[in-house]
Amino acid sequence: MIPDLHIFPDPEALCRFAADEFSRFAQAAAKKHHPFRVALSGGSTPQRLFTILAAPPHQQAIPWEFAELFWGDERCVPPDHPESNYFQAYTTLLRSVPIPQSNIYRIKGELPPEKAAQDYADLLARLAPPGLAYPIFDLVLLGMGADGHTASLFPGSDPQITQPVIPVTAHYQDRPANRVTLTPPVINAARNILVLVTGESKAQALADALQGKHDPARLPIQRINPVNGKLTWLVDRNAARMLPSPRQNNHPNH
Ligand code: 6PG
Repeated sequence: MIPDLHIFPDPEALCRFAADEFSRFAQAAAKKHHPFRVALSGGSTPQRLFTILAAPPHQQAIPWEFAELFWGDERCVPPDHPESNYFQAYTTLLRSVPIPQSNIYRIKGELPPEKAAQDYADLLARLAPPGLAYPIFDLVLLGMGADGHTASLFPGSDPQITQPVIPVTAHYQDRPANRVTLTPPVINAARNILVLVTGESKAQALADALQGKHDPARLPIQRINPVNGKLTWLVDRNAARMLPSPRQNNHPNH
């Protein structure tokens, strides 16, 4: 049985649903007067989600003063570099919403990878509850590469890593190779994980991840299994084309 899987006709419908979920989680945290801690993903898939969040109604409806933004991974480039996940979020979302600058916790991609990873691990430790080395995120957004990677956890990397934050060197498309990433223990401690997958190029990896042999060394997305939280897959029809029918939670007209 496939876990919570929602299939959308196109990326626009998927991102609108994801924005509604983001808003719902933010309102729930604000109602309890808790910070809404969310780790953003990078890459192209969430860009439309960010622009939807940056516009009415979400721009005004989300209690941004409660939001605390982190990143699931970052490329080791300066924060004003076009390949920086922070920069992509800044240009599509952060500069358009009233989130206090002090609530934005970027990974310092301008530092050497080892130093950037240690700096972020120290930050997470400062925000952690007793007994943990990292905070419990209300929401972690993830994407998935055509090779089954997520965040910057790539095929062939150690599936049993325990450090909360690690430096990574990996070659994927023409993206910067040196990165910093959260690891599965941090991600799997989250209350909610949304995996956003669109496009035909992801279809085989998605089918393998959801239907294939459990092989987290080869398919890092399979390392994502929340301990107490909820994992929800948001995929579009092109990415889902190799999944069997009938499919759960089809959103024909969302
Ligand atoms: C990154 C992302 C990465 C991304 C996948 C999918 O820094 O590149 O965090 O994990 O989510 O590579 O990328 P696309 O959304 O561009 O397909």
